[in-house]
Amino acid sequence: AAATRYEAESAAASCVGTIDANWSGFSGTGFCNANNAVGAHVQFTVNAASAGTATLGIRFANGGTTARQAHVLVDGVAVQSVSFEPTGSWSTWMTKTVTVSVSAGDHTVRLSPAASTGLPNIDYLDF
Ligand code: GCU
Repeated sequence: AAATRYEAESAAASCVGTIDANWSGFSGTGFCNANNAVGAHVQFTVNAASAGTATLGIRFANGGTTARQAHVLVDGVAVQSVSFEPTGSWSTWMTKTVTVSVSAGDHTVRLSPAASTGLPNIDYLDF
C-alpha cells in the first residue's frame, strides 16, 4: 500500500521542542526542532493496515557537522538505530528509510536521540 505521510506539526505527532518554519524546504507548515537533549523525542501515531514489515521514511535536515544518532521505538520498544548524517545545511532535507515489524492497527513510532546533541530537524514520517 502507498505510504501515509504524518507531518511532524500535525495532531498525529508530538514534538518535544518547537515547531519551526525558519528553514526552507519543509513539507506542510513546519518541522519539529526537538530540544538538543536526551529524551527530547518526536513521536508519531501511525496506522498499519495489515501486519508485516513496514517501511518508515523519515525526512530530516542536519545542518551540523556530525551525524546525530537516534533510536527508533515502536510502541515504546527500541527496535532500530538510525544515523542522521549531515545534510549540508538546515534547509537541505534528506529521507532515511528503516524497516520495522508491526501488527495491524495503531502504533507509536518515536525517534529518541542517543546523545545530548539531540535529533536533526524532522519534517515528516512516511509510514
Ligand atoms: C540551529 C538550527 C535549528 C537546529 C539546531 C540544532 O539552531 O537553527 O533549526 O535544530 O541548530 O542544532 O539542532
